[in-house]
Amino acid sequence: MDFSKISLKGKVALVTGASRGIGHASALAFADAGADVVLASRKQADLDAVAAEIKAKGRKGLAIAAHTAKIEDSKMLVEKTMAEFGRIDILFNNSGTNPYFGPLMDAEEWAWDTTMNVNLKGQFFLSQLVARIMKQQGGGSIINTSSVGGLKASELGIYNVTKAAFLMLTECMAKEWGQYGIRVNAICPGVIKTRLSEQLWKQPEVGKIAADNCALMRLGEPEEVAGVVLFLASDLASYVTGEHIVIDGGQMVGAPSFLTKAA
Ligand SMILES: NC(=O)c1ccc[n+]([C@@H]2O[C@H](COP(=O)([O-])OP(=O)(O)OC[C@H]3O[C@@H](n4cnc5c(N)ncnc54)[C@H](OP(=O)(O)O)[C@@H]3O)[C@@H](O)[C@H]2O)c1
Repeated sequence: MDFSKISLKGKVALVTGASRGIGHASALAFADAGADVVLASRKQADLDAVAAEIKAKGRKGLAIAAHTAKIEDSKMLVEKTMAEFGRIDILFNNSGTNPYFGPLMDAEEWAWDTTMNVNLKGQFFLSQLVARIMKQQGGGSIINTSSVGGLKASELGIYNVTKAAFLMLTECMAKEWGQYGIRVNAICPGVIKTRLSEQLWKQPEVGKIAADNCALMRLGEPEEVAGVVLFLASDLASYVTGEHIVIDGGQMVGAPSFLTKAA
């Protein structure tokens, strides 16, 4: 996709979960639009590969291994970003996990704690650190990766609870930080073909069921999410805050009505 018509020239974007999937695609989109990009997730080697892609686009890419749930790591991430670039204009809070897939009836405390810490607690404290900087700068854009699971119940119980809470956190941060010129928005992807969701799409018959439940009758690609993330990060969305955008190929509206297309 050609994102070059949206300009993020002179801006610095910090992306978590940047090593693959939605974060990777969005980091490349930010670089295409002219931003320098700080890349975070747990594995340095994976991030180094993405940083090389950013550099090949003529932008700076800084790869920093950091665990989202460790507040000390978030502090280090922000300190290193400030030491290198001296500002943060965009925070894409995108890392996430779903370590337990099973009935709520059987879920154990470790699953609750891990999912809450990686999908919600870490994002809150990183946002707080970055918002203090954005307040000094006079503004910025924070984008949070929630999910359609934050809007609609499914079998991903604890995960969905974290994503629903992330939407409310988005609204509360937007309400408090708008006065500082900080916009806070969320995205709610449906099934996007990444490693996180591969159980849902790698087996063709399972993927077909998921696709047939969407109005567009197909699953999404990470680049199709990146376009919306880029919009929210950019000045095109300068009057948008406290909102969420669903990117699900019509999963929320459901399977096509009056289907005439051959299977
Ligand atoms: N794919 C979907 O269908 C879908 C739908 C709705 C929402 N989402 C959300 O989209 C976001 C991105 O997921 P994705 O689909 O792009 O999956 P992915 O390709 O598996 O990417 C997940 C990213 O998060 C990082 N990560 C995982 N645990 C981490 C931790 N504890 N600390 C720091 N980084 C961590 C991973 O890197 P390391 O493992 O190296 O740390 C990786 O960069 C997640 O928040 C997910 O919940 C995905």
